[in-house]
Amino acid sequence: MNEADKQRYLEHYKEKKAEGEMFWPDAIAKDAVVSLMLFVLLLGLVVFVGIPNEPPANPSDAAYIPRPEWYFLWTFQLLKYFPGQLEAVAITGLGVLIALGLFGLPFFDRNPKRHPRNRPVATALMTLIVLGMAFLTIQAVVTTPPQAEATDLGVTPAAQIAAGEELYQKHCAECHGADGEGAQLKSGEFTAPLNSEDFLKTHYDDTTSEIIRFGQPGEGMQAFGLAYGGPLTDQEIRVIVAFMRAWAAPEEEAQDAKSLAALAELAKIETPSFARHVKPIFDKKCASCHAKRLKGNYSVADHDKTLNSGDHPPNIIAGDAANSQLVKMLRGIKTPAGGLMPPSKPLAKEQIELIERWINQGAQNN
Ligand code: HEC
Ligand code: HEC
Repeated sequence: MNEADKQRYLEHYKEKKAEGEMFWPDAIAKDAVVSLMLFVLLLGLVVFVGIPNEPPANPSDAAYIPRPEWYFLWTFQLLKYFPGQLEAVAITGLGVLIALGLFGLPFFDRNPKRHPRNRPVATALMTLIVLGMAFLTIQAVVTTPPQAEATDLGVTPAAQIAAGEELYQKHCAECHGADGEGAQLKSGEFTAPLNSEDFLKTHYDDTTSEIIRFGQPGEGMQAFGLAYGGPLTDQEIRVIVAFMRAWAAPEEEAQDAKSLAALAELAKIETPSFARHVKPIFDKKCASCHAKRLKGNYSVADHDKTLNSGDHPPNIIAGDAANSQLVKMLRGIKTPAGGLMPPSKPLAKEQIELIERWINQGAQNN
């Protein structure tokens, strides 16, 4: 900068300063208002919008495609142009070059003008850099394959269990039964039930996921994990396991205070009604195997069928709970028609006693 330029600049600076406003409190007040507005906006976004979590990190998940945040995508893309070992050189080399460039800027850019229009070289260079970053970002986005994990499998536990049930019915029910009760294989052998307390209590979710991922090749179950040539992503396997876990839910249900209170209520009902008290229990605990699908040809769809259907009728003897086959089964006593119902876990004592009272009072359609 020569003397004349410097003089002109200092005068200009003085003028501007004379007409300007005070930093305190004028500028600070403006800043404070804007920061407050941004803060409220962020808070609002956090509370009302939020961002969905990505699935938990999992080192064995080969289907996950890692990508940096969007504002780093351009560097990510840039590094793709340096093959193999050169990438490490590029990471350090480019960084050092940029830092040196910034340090050197005051030495090689001696142009005293400030307006972008008066600085064609610098402006052109910066425009090129910004365009280059935009180009690289777009390039990175279009070359990213769709995230296999991004399929919508629901956010709430209920939605995930529903998604899991659909996948289970499609891939597993054939060999393990629609309710995990076990099924006959082509070889004629039966699979052991997966919905039994035995199985559910002795397998962590991670263990079950692993079994599904690798399969049990020696026993006739293929691998289902993508990494082992199967059709299912880790997230899909996780929701299937969530669905399987729900088979054990009645137990957890019975432990919360609300359902304990509801059970205590059942114990107080002296003349149970079929529609109001008995049917809801059947609907909840038996319908999965005895409404649409009929295990042992027994249906709890309505009053008549509850009394009269089944391969080994009668299952209910009105007025005589103690000799009713259904009650024996609820209590886990072996009968010609089978053992414990539901097979994986008995009903609560209060529920069984309520059904007994209803049968002893004539098993009416009341
Ligand atoms: C072609 C038949 C077949 C299909 C399909 C199948 N499995 Fe299996 N699965 C088996 C066999 C056979 C076993 C060996 C254990 C047995 O016989 O009970 C087994 C074992 C298992 C076990 C371990 C059981 C234990 O007691 O250790 C789990 C868990 C399991 N399967 C879950 C699934 C899930 C979930 C699916 C669906 C993604 C599925 N299986 C699909 C046949 C199959
Ligand atoms: C997970 C599936 C499942 C659930 C849930 C279930 N059952 Fe069963 N039920 C079966 C199977 C399987 C049979 C066939 C008998 C056998 O092989 O043990 C059966 C048979 C029966 C029979 C004998 C039918 C006949 O005449 O042969 C009765 C009665 C019965 N169940 C009642 C119930 C009741 C009541 C509930 C609910 C409290 C219930 N079951 C829940 C699977 C289930």
